Amino acid sequence: MTRTPVTVTVTGAAGQIGYALLFRIASGQLLGPDVPVRLNLLEITPALKAAEGTAMELDDCAFPLLAGIDISDDPARAFDGTNVALLVGARPRTKGMERGDLLEANGGIFKPQGKAINDHAADDVRVLVVGNPANTNALIARSAAPDVPAERFTAMTRLDHNRALSQLSRKTGAPVSDIRRMTIWGNHSATQYPDIFHAEIAGKNAAETVSDDTWLAEDFIPTVAKRGAAIIEARGASSAASAANAAVDHIHDWVRGTPDGDWVSMAIPSDGSYGVPEGLISSFPVTCADGAYRIVQGLEINDFSRTRIDASVRELAEEREAVRSLGLV
Ligand code: NAD
Ligand code: LMR
Repeated sequence: MTRTPVTVTVTGAAGQIGYALLFRIASGQLLGPDVPVRLNLLEITPALKAAEGTAMELDDCAFPLLAGIDISDDPARAFDGTNVALLVGARPRTKGMERGDLLEANGGIFKPQGKAINDHAADDVRVLVVGNPANTNALIARSAAPDVPAERFTAMTRLDHNRALSQLSRKTGAPVSDIRRMTIWGNHSATQYPDIFHAEIAGKNAAETVSDDTWLAEDFIPTVAKRGAAIIEARGASSAASAANAAVDHIHDWVRGTPDGDWVSMAIPSDGSYGVPEGLISSFPVTCADGAYRIVQGLEINDFSRTRIDASVRELAEEREAVRSLGLV
């Protein structure tokens, strides 16, 4: 039976994450090997030619699942009928730019895109914001889309989650496949809190297995939280293939479900769980089934974790205040 293609919109399609992401989507890794996709690429006008070049390469792969490509600089067209929206393009911070300037510049991108999603996307649209500051950009887009259920707007902390799995694997020598129940709390920023107190290595508690408080506080947490900056320092450019990989993981698990007994980290609008103020787009441990996610409930939060979760959530609240005062939410 031929399935109707799923429309996936990628913004910033000509950028470095776009280049690493589009081929994975078209090959079936985002939604599964049985799901045809139609790609809508949104770029700013000067980057349309580069997006066309990427589209030519997509054509040249002859992906059996790729049902079509549309390239546009018009959000209304790019989000028309979209089922999955990957908001990657953002305004990077440049020299001399204050945080407020950055938030305002991104407001100029994510507010109209949120409105275009509101007015043109499919009823089942799911949104992942990758462009930084991802959590607050997602908040801006969500605020501009009052007709879309709030829970469809998410931001990416899956890269942080994957980084945490990898660091724990290096420390313990256990394969990544033996590690479950990692959690990233809070903001996709240096204040994020990677939590191993509920993680398990081959079924045993990870914090007890490691039993090294110094490593936890002085190595693991800062390494994961500052990994983005370390990549920029090493590559001279921010993470791209690993970010694209995390975006694929995020949407794949949201749509197709998380494995039994495990969970993943997603930044989602808080329902007030774990003391995170309602509406903030903050990272939580979630399980996914039937196309929906649920926050894992009932985890005991110790004092060490509480302090760190609160600090990251405080930063998110400050970012929300800043965009409120700019009239963006
Ligand atoms: P990039 O500069 O290579 O590409 C960004 C692209 O976005 C450019 O092609 C640009 O023309 C386009 N763009 C700008 N404004 C646009 C608009 N209004 N509409 C459509 N396209 C627009 O950047 P990149 O390396 O691909 O990174 C993209 C974003 O992802 C950055 O904000 C980066 O900080 C962020 N990022 C997030 C994570 C995460 O874990 N959440 C990880 C890595 C990178
Ligand atoms: C990352 O975590 O790699 C990025 O968010 C870093 C950045 O500033 O783009």
